[in-house]
Amino acid sequence: EAEAGPSRGAFIVLEGLDRSGKSTQVQKLVEYLKSRGVEAEAWRFPDRTTAMGKMIASYLDSKSELDDCAVHLLFSANRWEKRSLMEAKLREGTTLIVDRYSYSGVAFTAAKGLPFDWCKAPEVGLPAPDAVLYLQIPPEAALERGGYGEERYEKLDFQRVVASKYEQLRDATWQDIDARKGPDEVQAVLRPIVDRMVQTCKQGRPLSRLWP
Ligand code: TYD
Ligand code: MG
Repeated sequence: EAEAGPSRGAFIVLEGLDRSGKSTQVQKLVEYLKSRGVEAEAWRFPDRTTAMGKMIASYLDSKSELDDCAVHLLFSANRWEKRSLMEAKLREGTTLIVDRYSYSGVAFTAAKGLPFDWCKAPEVGLPAPDAVLYLQIPPEAALERGGYGEERYEKLDFQRVVASKYEQLRDATWQDIDARKGPDEVQAVLRPIVDRMVQTCKQGRPLSRLWP
């Protein structure tokens, strides 16, 4: 373990297939933390509000076509453009609960057949999350949840491949969370994990860089 650094907010990422319940859990976690007096914000990637985010949104909506490699780099650049704000928030003590991050970036592009190491390369040097909470659900069960929408990647066969790519991304910060249960049950599993990490970061857990 590295020496303790300055007190800071925790950087928590929720990952999972489409319809695994990430957005609901992110919102609930932020409300919970705030109710406990912890400074916290909900973030998501892609951040569709920026110029690059708008290009990504148009691509996901099939309103534009982009080369697979080009769109991969756009998703990555969309994280890099938020990097300094992310780091500033963490430094000032705000905990960030983030809906998707570099793990989505690699899993979704690798699922198209691009080499894993190529997919990871543009993420190198980004702040590494303190915890990656993977909401695990069989793709068939995700599909049953009101179904996928119309977006480019929301198809059963593709999601199956994405799930297998996620499996290869497990690292020391990664935890599998059974997401087949109801939202309150899943939330009850997440809260103590997040509480502990908020404490650890408050005590100065050093922020590391991808890939840990
Ligand atoms: P998603 O979180 O599903 O947005 P929404 O809730 O609006 O549907 O993200 C959109 C899609 O983008 C999703 O299918 C995963 C994909 N994605 C990538 O391919 N690369 C990335 O780097 C990220 C963050 C997401
Ligand atoms: Mg989606």
